[in-house]
Amino acid sequence: MPRVMDDAGAAELSALLQERVRKAIAEAGGWLPFDHYMAMALYEPGLGYYARGGAGIFGTLPGAAGAGSDFVTAPELSPLFGAALARQVAQVLRLGGLDEIVEFGAGSGALAAQLLDAMHAAGVPVRRYAIVELAGALRQRQRQRLARFGAQVQWLDAWPRDPIEAVVVGNEVLDAMPVKLLHFDGQGWFERGVAVAAEAHADADAGEGAAAPAAGRGFVFADRPSALRPPLAERALPGAVLEVHPQAEAFVATLAGKLARGAAFFIDYGFPEAEYYHAQRHQGTLMCHRAHRSDTDPLSDTGGKDITAHVDFTAIALAAQEAGAEVAGYTSQARFLVNCGLLALLQGADVRTVAAAQKLVAEHEMGELFKVLAFTRGLALPAAGLLGFREGDRTHTL
Ligand SMILES: C[S@@+](CC[C@H](N)C(=O)[O-])C[C@H]1O[C@@H](n2cnc3c(N)ncnc32)[C@H](O)[C@@H]1O
Repeated sequence: MPRVMDDAGAAELSALLQERVRKAIAEAGGWLPFDHYMAMALYEPGLGYYARGGAGIFGTLPGAAGAGSDFVTAPELSPLFGAALARQVAQVLRLGGLDEIVEFGAGSGALAAQLLDAMHAAGVPVRRYAIVELAGALRQRQRQRLARFGAQVQWLDAWPRDPIEAVVVGNEVLDAMPVKLLHFDGQGWFERGVAVAAEAHADADAGEGAAAPAAGRGFVFADRPSALRPPLAERALPGAVLEVHPQAEAFVATLAGKLARGAAFFIDYGFPEAEYYHAQRHQGTLMCHRAHRSDTDPLSDTGGKDITAHVDFTAIALAAQEAGAEVAGYTSQARFLVNCGLLALLQGADVRTVAAAQKLVAEHEMGELFKVLAFTRGLALPAAGLLGFREGDRTHTL
């Protein structure tokens, strides 16, 4: 997929975004919590990474200069991802007598197309496929990609006012929600925020704990004492920098609270709490992606690259449960897709199709790092449970 934006255009947008971030920092008194910075870097209207909606964000090919994509997600990798997930979605639609699917963070619209095609082929009626997408430019892209489905696909500007009776899906949406950063210096906890480089220098002189800026960067990290603690804080090593996910948890709590009948499936990279906050991972999981290359410096190239953190699935499951939903399954993507019949879908497929699908389930690719978490509400499940978790359910590890 070619990139629509040339480098000069991208640089101009980045300069505008940086100016806006500087203003936000000034208005906040010289220090912006990292989650505010991340929200602007990704979603500031017209300027943030996703808000620009560049055609190169999603795709399959590593980007040579000026072409290709920034990262690959499962629905972009293989349509069989959607075809297998569709079997799970169909099971819940039938169980609940439902005819609506809601997708959060639909990216290029690939998963929506795969699910709708599969439902059509299986003769499962879908009255409405509703998409909630934060980035306006991506909504436009989705409209083009999904035009062939007509009025069946609708975009919601906000949370539906009525209770949700639907199957909800979200692939790699939780990892794109802004996180807070917490730093443990061996004695106390600090919230890590963002300051403008020159001012941070002055603050550092005044002993406020700002790090020295790297060359060519306008922003630096700066720490403030905080009452916030990550899960398992007592295990943290001096120097640890860990993420916590209040926005993703609030999002899931709202969804679980609004869900009256149906199920929600979130697919993403992440771990249960004990693994997430293990001493070995004491520098957290924050990563940036651009053109299939990753780095760990979210303060450079603001708006020009993705910023993401792994999902703490224990926190997500608890948020859903505390809001009244029942956790109905948690397992690896590989297990989930195989349980949903991926292998049967591959019967007779050509070598390319098999190779792409293999990446969805291979342990060293997406199969093990990616997990699927499901929660339900108002649904009587069969004794064997949901299709995708029939073998290898790991809910007990959360
Ligand atoms: C990493 S992309 C994944 C896109 C797509 N699901 C896929 O798998 O290719 C994250 C998507 O989530 C959207 N997003 C992030 N936070 C959101 C929220 N609170 N509500 C709806 N969409 C959101 C982003 O704009 C983007 O489309």
